[in-house]
Amino acid sequence: MMRIGMLTSGGDCQALNAAMRGVVKCLYNSGVGGELEIFGFNAGYKGLINSDFRMLTGDDFSGILTKGGTILGSSRVPFKTIDEPDEKGNNKVESMKHTYHKLSLDCLVILGGNGTHKTANRLREEGLNVITLPKTIDNDLWGTDMTFGFQSAVDVATHVIDCIHTTADSHGRVFIVEVMGHKAGWLTLNAGMASGADIILIPEIPYHMDCVINAIKRREARGSKFTILAVAEGAISAEDAKLSKKEYAKKLEKLPFPSVSYEVADAIAKKTGLEVRVTVPGHMQRGGSPCPYDRVFASRLGAEAGRLILKGEYGVMVGYKDREIVRVPLKDVAGKLKTVAPDATIIKEAKMLGISFGDE
Ligand code: F6P
Repeated sequence: MMRIGMLTSGGDCQALNAAMRGVVKCLYNSGVGGELEIFGFNAGYKGLINSDFRMLTGDDFSGILTKGGTILGSSRVPFKTIDEPDEKGNNKVESMKHTYHKLSLDCLVILGGNGTHKTANRLREEGLNVITLPKTIDNDLWGTDMTFGFQSAVDVATHVIDCIHTTADSHGRVFIVEVMGHKAGWLTLNAGMASGADIILIPEIPYHMDCVINAIKRREARGSKFTILAVAEGAISAEDAKLSKKEYAKKLEKLPFPSVSYEVADAIAKKTGLEVRVTVPGHMQRGGSPCPYDRVFASRLGAEAGRLILKGEYGVMVGYKDREIVRVPLKDVAGKLKTVAPDATIIKEAKMLGISFGDE
């Protein structure tokens, strides 16, 4: 009998179901289906901690290729808290190990982003067999060129900016679309470029308000009636970038705006007298059906995870490097972030297209 535990952890994204389906389809098609027991843990690591699971069969994974969200549910159990006792006073790591051993699992398949990978690596260090799959709309996971969910989120954010374009044109306004991505600018950069945004502000390139204003004025001087800004939720001014982490967190707490986009909007309105509007698509970017790219990509990653389970090869994340599906040791992935290099060729190319990053 082969006994596999599966969980999805952290913020959800598109193609989580497609990836899990990929794993299970691969196992069934290899002929081990009859010997397979799948334990689906509810709501991420919480399910593993509380031994909260349901038994799944091949049928549960049928018809979910195009379904958004996750059939297992998800939650955030921050890595920094895993050594703190849970609400029942139990050590979370010990509880997870206990569940794993009690159910005599052969391995855990864990789908998640950065925080999830830190915990997955910790479980590996504790002797559990773990295989992970890289999900997140932020695409900020180290060790893989791409995470699933990312391309679908790019589609959603692009669609939002496309829609904003027509109304911005009608009214001759400045529009800011705030894009998710946490501390990485991948989503904003790609959606911004795909939708022809004029100014793109990402966390990796701190912006100067004067440069942003100049970029708007240059457009006005050329006769453009409107300007579109794609602003990452983690965008930061050059001034604020000089603050320590603690000082910046304090500043954010006291910010009289819901987010940095509104602060940028306020400064633009005051300095130019132009009418500015902010649109925040928020969690829409994580929702809905995965795009075709993500369906294929997540299925491929899932299939490879299935193959590794059959070989008994654990302790790795299945990732994507130089157009190949690869295995990356979990110990190398955990705790690292993949961000946009300010001198990346894509940034240079975007600048050649006339896009301002607010830095010059
Ligand atoms: O990591 C995915 C993500 O959507 C980020 O882009 C965003 O900063 C965060 O999750 C939002 O988290 P929550 O869903 O907990 O509000």
